[in-house]
Amino acid sequence: MSRHLLQIEGMYPPAIAEMLDLAESYVLLNRSGKTQRDLLRGRTLINLFFEDSTRTRTSFELAGKRLGADVINMSVASSSVNKGETLLDTAATLNAMHCDLLVIRHGESGAPALLAQKVDASVINAGDGTHEHPTQALLDALTIRRRKGRLEGLTIAICGDVLHSRVARSNIHLLTTLGSRVRVVGPPTLIPTEAARLGVEVFHDMREGLQGADIVMMLRLQKERMTRGLVPSAREFFRFYGLDAEKLAYAKPDALVMHPGPMNRGVEIASAVADDPVRSLIREQVEMGVAVRMAVLDILARRNRPNV
Ligand code: CP
Repeated sequence: MSRHLLQIEGMYPPAIAEMLDLAESYVLLNRSGKTQRDLLRGRTLINLFFEDSTRTRTSFELAGKRLGADVINMSVASSSVNKGETLLDTAATLNAMHCDLLVIRHGESGAPALLAQKVDASVINAGDGTHEHPTQALLDALTIRRRKGRLEGLTIAICGDVLHSRVARSNIHLLTTLGSRVRVVGPPTLIPTEAARLGVEVFHDMREGLQGADIVMMLRLQKERMTRGLVPSAREFFRFYGLDAEKLAYAKPDALVMHPGPMNRGVEIASAVADDPVRSLIREQVEMGVAVRMAVLDILARRNRPNV
């Protein structure tokens, strides 16, 4: 059992189920208004985000505090990284402070794995480049499992900018591992060439890709990672690949809509769909994020220092 959470790829179903089942209990605890402040008392969690974040950073902070950890949000913008300190020197510095849990988001794929080789803390990947975002996939799976009662046998369409999406990669690994049928839907320029190797079906037409889907998961168009023009314009993208009521009608009548956030309204998703109180799970995904991150911190802290 690893003391880190770096990626979903390679995780076995029982390890995923352990995290989802524990997260389920934290959903109930959070809804009851109670906390478990003793569990991580005396442990230190450092949030080290080299890329912007609202949901992930806040929910790791909340999760750590609800479990009693000392939580530090390191401001990279005002840190010695700006004076040229390398990632590994930064890690060595934090390691010397005896941090227990290090949550890192970085623009380079593989940065958390590199750090994990150098520090004593448990390292949690909060999103690295276009590689993986494991806690996002766990919270998405928990959201689906709670609403549909299962993951096995469901048809899940992941739509839009799959090429640049670490969320899509983590979700593809997790959902196929747990028996879902996964489709990716998007223009050829935004579907990675290795998609078929990942065990998913590829569609370039939304109506075909959404036909009979149980879950429609939309992705943000990541313009900041595009080094060349991969889509004609936001308006054109929305026309062919934006989720509106008309395209959603091709999915099952009880299909549910997800988006990891942040959303580009009117680009990959229409506001009427995103805010639909019956079909949209977007706010529920955020709630599940806190519970999943509590479960991950709980499990990794116990694995790293079992007797404390
Ligand atoms: N879904 C997600 O990772 O959101 P943030 O970028 O706000 O953390």
